[in-house]
Amino acid sequence: MAAEPTREELEAALRWLVEAGADEAVGAAAVDRFAASAAEPAAGPPASESRPAESRPAESRPAEFHQGPPPAAGGTASERKAPAVWTPEARAPLSLDQGLAEARAAARAADDLPALYRAIEGFEACPLKKTASRTVICRGDPAQRVMLIGEAPGRDEDIQGEPFVGVAGRLLDLMLAHAGFERGQAYITNVLFWRPPGNRTPEPAEVQLCLPFVERHIELVDPRVILLLGGVSTKALLGDPRGITRVRGQWFGYRHEGLPAPIPALATLHPAYLLRQPAQKRLAWRDMISFKMVNRGDFDPLGV
Ligand code: URA
Repeated sequence: MAAEPTREELEAALRWLVEAGADEAVGAAAVDRFAASAAEPAAGPPASESRPAESRPAESRPAEFHQGPPPAAGGTASERKAPAVWTPEARAPLSLDQGLAEARAAARAADDLPALYRAIEGFEACPLKKTASRTVICRGDPAQRVMLIGEAPGRDEDIQGEPFVGVAGRLLDLMLAHAGFERGQAYITNVLFWRPPGNRTPEPAEVQLCLPFVERHIELVDPRVILLLGGVSTKALLGDPRGITRVRGQWFGYRHEGLPAPIPALATLHPAYLLRQPAQKRLAWRDMISFKMVNRGDFDPLGV
């Protein structure tokens, strides 16, 4: 009989999982999926739809699941009895160029916001989608034309399906409220729609793949002002290679071919950074006031 794992071995396994990005337990007890599929009867009773897809017989499973190739006729007994292992149907991975072409075509085809949300939900070429639990797109009222763009969903956003609903989001909401924005007035989104595993910094290719959707998002919302929260969204949308501490507080004209005129965009510090560096809140507060004034039409930051 195999020896019970030691506490050190269990801790090492847990550390490995956390480093791989698993930061949530979905059940109180571990489930051995291999044993479960080995116990699957060869021709069992009709499956209940309420069972997980991977444990249902092939005919009732969605198309993306398939059974591995059947053992060759005349193979050994152990080959013939090999348990079915359900694996997602392999779609050859797209190259970055192919993924980008798909993203551009899907974003361009979206004529309104609901169509864009559907296009993002249906986009499979960004690898982050495979590890995230949810697609996170936006919250707030697009009709108010006040657009805030952050980096990527974190753990809370991945669970709840809305951007900036964790502790950084609460700080952002407080700042908006103190600057006089009504609840829900700001329309909040991110440059990435899926949580990077373990909240790691997004890869440039991941940002690139989402960018056509973000650009179309901006065109469709047609904001009066844009607030870029942190370095990732600032770099992605303004293409300015300087760090956020250099460019924060500065207004830029955000340009894109689909826009009739540049949109005033202000770069500021990310709320998660402010939680780690509370002394910097005064700078972010200054930015928020400037953002509020431009939204109100008190001054034109792009005027000559
Ligand atoms: N940080 C972000 O940039 N976006 C979120 O949605 C949450 C945290």
